[in-house]
Amino acid sequence: MKLKRTHMCGKLRATDDGQTAILAGWVNTYRDQGKGLIFVDLRDRSGMTQIVFDLEDVAEEVVTLAKALRREDVVAIKGLVRMREAGANPKLTTGEIELAAVELEILNKTENPPILPDEHDAEKIAEEKRLAYRYIDLRRPRMQEILTTRHKLTRLTRDYFGDEGFLEVETPFLIKTTPEGARDFIVPSRLYPGQWYALPQSPQIFKQILMVGGCDRYMQIVKCFRDEDPRADRQAEFTQIDLEMSFVDRDDVIDVMGRFVTKVWKDILDVEIGEIKTISWHDAMERYGIDRPDLRFGLELEDISDLAAKMDFKVFTGALEKDKGVVKAMRIPGGVEKMTRKMTDACSEFVKTFKAGGAPSVKYTGNGFETGIAKFIGPIADELKTRLGLEPGDLVFFTADTWNIATKAMGELRNKIARDLDLIDPSLWNFVWVIDFPMFEYDEEGSRWNALHHPFTSPMPDQMEKLATDPGGCISAGYDLVCNGSEIAGGSIRIHDQNVQRKAFELLGITPEDAEMKFGFLLKALRFGAPPMGGIAFGLDRLCMLLVGTENIRDVIAFPKTQTGQDLMSEAPGPVDLTQLEELHVRSHLPES
Ligand code: AMO
Repeated sequence: MKLKRTHMCGKLRATDDGQTAILAGWVNTYRDQGKGLIFVDLRDRSGMTQIVFDLEDVAEEVVTLAKALRREDVVAIKGLVRMREAGANPKLTTGEIELAAVELEILNKTENPPILPDEHDAEKIAEEKRLAYRYIDLRRPRMQEILTTRHKLTRLTRDYFGDEGFLEVETPFLIKTTPEGARDFIVPSRLYPGQWYALPQSPQIFKQILMVGGCDRYMQIVKCFRDEDPRADRQAEFTQIDLEMSFVDRDDVIDVMGRFVTKVWKDILDVEIGEIKTISWHDAMERYGIDRPDLRFGLELEDISDLAAKMDFKVFTGALEKDKGVVKAMRIPGGVEKMTRKMTDACSEFVKTFKAGGAPSVKYTGNGFETGIAKFIGPIADELKTRLGLEPGDLVFFTADTWNIATKAMGELRNKIARDLDLIDPSLWNFVWVIDFPMFEYDEEGSRWNALHHPFTSPMPDQMEKLATDPGGCISAGYDLVCNGSEIAGGSIRIHDQNVQRKAFELLGITPEDAEMKFGFLLKALRFGAPPMGGIAFGLDRLCMLLVGTENIRDVIAFPKTQTGQDLMSEAPGPVDLTQLEELHVRSHLPES
């Protein structure tokens, strides 16, 4: 490299007028205007500068090189910074100036690039192709902006928690097994034939053991591995900001973590998020039909089971006869105008994907009810009007089923209608702590209790005895932080008493032998002076998605996996040699190809 960079491409300003500068980067655009001028926009991570080659002014070998330039060639250019004669380009941060080229060094010619890192092209190119050529796609300004935001977030995280007295401690990746409830990725052991490591679904057990080890406050930005199907906001390999604290109760954890997100939003977006409210899991489910409610819009659900019982409508009365049967209603203000018949029919179809029978509706005119199930409303018309606060022009949707099905279906429908009717103001930020989760939910099919968080979550202090008397009514010390309907963090106060832990395992159908085999080392640690403790983990990728405004988790991960778990650039997963398998004492059941 003859020419050594003096400035970044996005940094030159009018104040640099008259200076000599050397820039290095990629040829973003190339225009030979045929009037003795060649224009090049040169790009690096920081932005772009317009370069002008005045063919009459520069040496002949520079002209030859300049004429052969192609997009994405890597070059260094020395020139003179000058004000643009034709006026500033407001689209570029360097738009006031240009660089009049004097020297050009080709650092690397590119082959014809299969994709170009253009923002407007990005939408047109299939994501698979962009992922296969990730190194080109990453050159896009938007991708660099995302990487920068993620970097700011991790840096701020370390500073904030460091200042709050948290120690960053690494925990192992090759471990026994984890309790987060997803499928493990497993790794065969070469030294112990037939034995396997698991990759951590989270460092949960290790962070609890760090508290037993006297660490007091732990923090780690850590990869977690869950062998589940990726989704828009889920990857099999993702990153957590993982935290644990000793001698704390729920409010202490909520306080430190609430101040953390407040600082993140202030420092990165310059947004004051204000006081973070709390809502009980029960209220969230009753009013919004989901445990991660998006509170940027209304459309609250109402339980009208008592009114529905007075109707002569079999769909409703039949549902009420079921165990835990309910009828839920949702008022859509002005829905008569806003929703066509086609849209209401689509809503009815939509809830079927959540096992509900349908979502019948009625219109309220002011004089009475029309269309849909209007003819059944008669006996409850006045009460329904008052209960839902109906105004003329409102539309009402209903679902009737077991509490679980009706609530969930209405919660999903609420989100869909808000999106369809554009009811969400994208400039709003709504943070809410969801607390008071039930400890367990009953799995009808398996006839057993499942943990709503993980099996180390403690009941609230006043709920301990319900473990024995009323597990279904026992409230846990778990908490989730939700932002705009996305669960960005989840955690709990832990059980630090081995007897309570054994009881919880028993309820979850984990036999003492099973517990001993899977978490024996934790149970043992709990016997030797475990302090009261609690913690939480933020989904770093999800925080980043919100900060940069994307609904695709792959946008915020430098090298993500596809929906089908592949890395299209490195082509993982891939085959391994049979000798490698032999060494690991693993035999493939697949026919050799
Ligand atoms: P949990 O399983 O709720 O808790 O995970 C914590 C947070 O991690 C994020 N998250 C994910 N992000 C992307 N892809 C995934 N597959 C994925 N799964 C989870 C979410 C979630 O809120 N050990 C406990 C924490 C604790 O109790 O302290 C745990 O892992 O934002």
